Amino acid sequence: MAELETTAHPGLSPASSKAPAWRPGDDRPDIPSMLRVDQAGEYGATRIYAGQLAVLGDRSDCARAIARMASQEERHLKHFDELLPARGVRPTILQPLWDHAGHALGAVTALISPNAAMACTAAVETEIDRHYSEQLRSLGSEDPDLAEKIREFQAEELEHRDTAIAAGAEDTFGYPILSYFIRAGCRAAIELSKRI
Ligand SMILES: [Fe+2]
Ligand SMILES: [Fe+2]
Repeated sequence: MAELETTAHPGLSPASSKAPAWRPGDDRPDIPSMLRVDQAGEYGATRIYAGQLAVLGDRSDCARAIARMASQEERHLKHFDELLPARGVRPTILQPLWDHAGHALGAVTALISPNAAMACTAAVETEIDRHYSEQLRSLGSEDPDLAEKIREFQAEELEHRDTAIAAGAEDTFGYPILSYFIRAGCRAAIELSKRI
């Protein structure tokens, strides 16, 4: 499937561009890689929230807040799910791993406590915010449609982080350590999903 990405400038639809494919060292942003990692991240987010809701049910205030955030993640994911085939970009081959790892992370943090579930969201969204900021810097004036969507989603990720902190994320026992490991895991997942 990788050959799909070599047919066109990554910022344009394959059918409409004769520009050469992105290559390592190219000073243009690697848009296929951006789309791949963003789809993976939004997919991971839906799996984390699914794992949390499987444990927390749907009655508590915490569960309701998570369900609201999860529905926004479904909308983010749908956008990238549609954009990848439209741009001829393959998803990461690590999707099955993010399916299980995301669900397990969500379920385990929710099993620790509702505050720990919120600590997970605060940590993940801190990294996603950093990641989307980096992408916007790298895009510059390229692909304004994509940049606009990233800005829209980034604003919602920041709302999720703030919701989680307001709901007691930082009151979790061992919060700095939990947050450190979740953020490190997110950074590793981002780097892997960009490449494979
Ligand atoms: Fe999202
Ligand atoms: Fe989010």
